[in-house]
Amino acid sequence: MADYKYSTLAVHAGQSPDPQTGAVNVPLYLSSTFELTGIGTDRGWDYSRAGNPTRDKLEEALAALEGGTSGHAFTSGMAAISALFAMLRAGDHLLCSKDVYAGTVRLLDQIVSGYGIEIEYVDTSNLAAVEAAIKPNTKLIHIETPSNPLMVLTDIAAVSAIAHAKGVEVSVDNTFLSPALQSPLALGADIVMHSTTKYLNGHSDGLGGALIGSKPEHKERFLLVQKAAGGVMSPFECFLVLRGIRTLAVRIRQHEENGLAIATYLAQHPKVSKVAYPGLKSHPQYALAVRQQKGFGSMMSFEVSGREAAGRFLKAIKIFVSAESLGGVESLASHSATTTHASVTQEQRDAMGITDGRIRLSIGIEDKEDLIADLEQALAAV
Ligand SMILES: Cc1ncc(COP(=O)(O)O)c(C=O)c1O
Repeated sequence: MADYKYSTLAVHAGQSPDPQTGAVNVPLYLSSTFELTGIGTDRGWDYSRAGNPTRDKLEEALAALEGGTSGHAFTSGMAAISALFAMLRAGDHLLCSKDVYAGTVRLLDQIVSGYGIEIEYVDTSNLAAVEAAIKPNTKLIHIETPSNPLMVLTDIAAVSAIAHAKGVEVSVDNTFLSPALQSPLALGADIVMHSTTKYLNGHSDGLGGALIGSKPEHKERFLLVQKAAGGVMSPFECFLVLRGIRTLAVRIRQHEENGLAIATYLAQHPKVSKVAYPGLKSHPQYALAVRQQKGFGSMMSFEVSGREAAGRFLKAIKIFVSAESLGGVESLASHSATTTHASVTQEQRDAMGITDGRIRLSIGIEDKEDLIADLEQALAAV
């Protein structure tokens, strides 16, 4: 499998015909428990929290898509991030990208910090700042690239080299690009995290998260967290994500074609400023995007004149849906300050550069001319 190209892996990794029946789709094993074959012996499964045959196949597919050694599926992206931070111990120091998903900030500031873990936010797009922030007790650098919603990139290979020289591991939230467009492990990172709720599921009909490790100790650790803490993905959600993954490569191609067309359109619109999309040559890190990513994706954000203008825009859109989340086949628009970043303080938002006029778009796979016409009429209302 490892030699196959990406589109082939997406269709076949973890998804070979069922050996018992020949079914071409992975069967859905809705069983919490499994018959034991003797005292202390079983057929590979004993209880679904520890392992489920449908989940195993999804985890195999995720590991293959990210080029990792083990995949681990959780009940949401946040459950996956929680499992990642469960690697840390009291007294450890964690460095985290400064403009990560606000849910990650909430988890760190309101829960993880209570366990005696020292948390520090750093601008991971600034390599000197990363190097300077590493301390003797730093255990992990957690990166989100491109960042949410400002689409700031972090150089994964460079941060990994700096971290490894000091014995520190690097984890990457790869949700915004999906494994189709960015391979953090191949760039030197140690662990990949996903909210499968987004592009991997792709249809906005399930919540899920994943960790992909690159070392035997990651597998041991994440299996323990799955079994001990219990936040595992249900078999039905696993089935949906497996189904979504089969069309990932083609969906992403259309997402991306539409994304580039829409970012180009927005960049020339007189009522729009500060379009953040790594595929525009005006993006300050365009060269890094070309080097590090296999495409530019379909996430972007831009500014209109303020909160009222953003409200009018969101009321006027017809095809775009005003909603949080991203990565589904339908196009979504959201007001960052009151949705994804509502849980961080105004002061934190100001420090991040997330103004009240900032709107984030997740471009779907509809016809791009229809999408542009929808934006045109909604911007006319601003
Ligand atoms: C980049 C990123 N990471 C993690 C998450 C959390 O994922 P979930 O909502 O599946 O818990 C999100 C959710 O929006 C996200 O955008």
